[in-house]
Amino acid sequence: MGKVAIVTGGTRGIGKAICEKLRDDLGATVIANYAGNDDAAKAFSDRTGIQTVKFDVGDHEAAVAGCKKIEEEHGSIDMLVNNAGITRDGTLLKMDFDDWNEVMRINLGGCFNMAKAAFPGMKERGWGRIVNIGSINGQAGQYGQVNYAAAKSGIHGFTKALAQEGARFGITVNAIAPGYIDTDMVAAVPDAVLEKIVAKIPVGRLGQAEEIARGVAFLCSENAGFVTGSTMSINGGQHMY
Ligand SMILES: NC(=O)c1ccc[n+]([C@@H]2O[C@H](COP(=O)([O-])OP(=O)(O)OC[C@H]3O[C@@H](n4cnc5c(N)ncnc54)[C@H](OP(=O)(O)O)[C@@H]3O)[C@@H](O)[C@H]2O)c1
Repeated sequence: MGKVAIVTGGTRGIGKAICEKLRDDLGATVIANYAGNDDAAKAFSDRTGIQTVKFDVGDHEAAVAGCKKIEEEHGSIDMLVNNAGITRDGTLLKMDFDDWNEVMRINLGGCFNMAKAAFPGMKERGWGRIVNIGSINGQAGQYGQVNYAAAKSGIHGFTKALAQEGARFGITVNAIAPGYIDTDMVAAVPDAVLEKIVAKIPVGRLGQAEEIARGVAFLCSENAGFVTGSTMSINGGQHMY
């Protein structure tokens, strides 16, 4: 039987490209999770035929119930891509607790909630792939993003710790740290700021979602069985870590 993959935040941006790549390159049955944008989810599902499921990954009970339902319907979750993420930017002086907490709850808490739900089945079957989407800004820090940088940096630590727990069960756990990728998230950055960012990217352009998806597909493949606890930086050379 083919493998089953769940991609959180899989209906837009980077997640959308990951879903299609896992299906097309690895032949996986892919389920795309999303939070609230029903129109985007429907457009994605209509175009690709990929099933979508709506729940908030930051809500522990909802994430566990969502994964349980997928396992009941499809028999397993073999690949988990923790891609869902949000930004609530502002300097520390202007950031309120809710901005801090929501970013931690969804970006980092979501990884815990989903892994907690999917890991036992992977352990039982002796095979699993978990890929967590971190960020260049979790590696290098970024002005106005103490919440996001902390959550993404946390994802990199989470990855290395869980990789140690999963290794003897055939479960690999890796992270990808994207640089600036051309998605809605980056479209929200003011043009003047974006121009300065692109000027600092050695390859001279933003990345494409497909370029992150290729990395995820490799880490989810059989070929990557000896790769665990690693962070793959895909950032056009902007930060060499
Ligand atoms: N774009 C970049 O340059 C960049 C760089 C480094 C890292 N990243 C990371 O890459 C990931 C994807 O980024 P993106 O640019 O593709 O983002 P995006 O275009 O804003 O899409 C975000 C996706 O995450 C979903 N989502 C948000 N909150 C969620 C929640 N609580 N529960 C479930 N799903 C949720 C959204 O669902 P709805 O459609 O329902 O809102 C959407 O499908 C994020 O983790 C981001 O931090 C992005």
